[in-house]
Amino acid sequence: MRRVYMDANATTPLLPEVFEAMRPYWIEHFGNASSIYLQGQQARKAVDRARETLAAFFNCHEAEVVFNSGGTEGDNTAIFGLVRPGDHLITTSIEHSAVLRAAERVAERGAEVTFIPPQPDGLIDPETIRGALKPNTRLISVMLANNETGVLQPVEEIGQIALEAGACFHIDAVQGAGKVPFDVSRYSCHLLSISAHKVHGPKGVGAMYVRRGTPVDPLMVGGSHERRRRAGTENVPGIVGLGKAAELAMESLADGAIDRVAALRDRLEAGILAIPGTGINGAGAPRAANTTNIRFDQVEGEALVIALDLKGVAVSGGSACHSGSTEPSHVLMAMGLDKSAARASLRFSLLKTATEADVEHVLRIVPEAVEHLRALAPVALGSF
Ligand SMILES: Cc1ncc(COP(=O)(O)O)c(C=O)c1O
Repeated sequence: MRRVYMDANATTPLLPEVFEAMRPYWIEHFGNASSIYLQGQQARKAVDRARETLAAFFNCHEAEVVFNSGGTEGDNTAIFGLVRPGDHLITTSIEHSAVLRAAERVAERGAEVTFIPPQPDGLIDPETIRGALKPNTRLISVMLANNETGVLQPVEEIGQIALEAGACFHIDAVQGAGKVPFDVSRYSCHLLSISAHKVHGPKGVGAMYVRRGTPVDPLMVGGSHERRRRAGTENVPGIVGLGKAAELAMESLADGAIDRVAALRDRLEAGILAIPGTGINGAGAPRAANTTNIRFDQVEGEALVIALDLKGVAVSGGSACHSGSTEPSHVLMAMGLDKSAARASLRFSLLKTATEADVEHVLRIVPEAVEHLRALAPVALGSF
């Protein structure tokens, strides 16, 4: 059976070039980057090279790149590393759980937290953030691209507001990486988090831009790795993989991959919207080129995910990071969808390697599966 993977926002496969770049660092060049002899120097050189690439990726100084274990750690570091009891944190109600749960925890420890809701199209209005500012606002944390809808948030304007207010600004750019060219100076941010496995790199490794002088307390303490900002022996193969993935992501961005993926996504949307009783969540807002979140009226989203999987198509309902949970998506609910509409929504997210044949295949499968489910259980849906 032909299999088409359309869940790039959950994770992406390693590109062969990334795998090849990492290969020598498992066995041949196994050294600890802190060791002064040859094997250590080889590892250090590889980490330094990856740091140079990430600095180009972020458009920052090499000393401002901190390697870590991924998006969750970056998000946690920003919040736990900056927000103290008595401080005020502004974030949004559509963030990833890595931000939401950390924000709840600092609130339990005595910080004030404001969760800004999105507009119905999924966009955060920067003026609502301005209106929420307090004299003790320490940090504003807003994502670049939403993982469920792909909606791109106005981080430049929000960065400007943070700057004027003298607050720090963190961007969870995990879903923006490789989909939008980065420039941390344009965003006026202090911190920005990314994760390798969303850009065809390995899982369990990521990086953060930390603007020079930002007084963020490290989450991990121990050795003096990463200029004392993140203790722990460097994951050399992982860091090499992230470096290669970032290099390839920059090449794809320069090669017009965004336009190519956008055209495929638009074709997919047009094909699916031809099915009656469908609609796009976040349609009016600017969105990452690879993502579409579609509501299928009178369909139970989980049942459709399973039906599509049985036909070889991998997509997700709600956020894949919450798979196993039957709760409707907090993002879609925050946008004003009711429970049944949120549960009837699916996310299709295309890999940058997606082809026209993939899209046409999915378009042959989806209408049939939707029709089948609607015919099976028209009554049960009333129970949501
Ligand atoms: C927006 C966003 N932030 C953070 C994360 C967590 O990243 P990681 O899987 O590297 O911990 C994800 C993962 O899905 C995400 O989509």
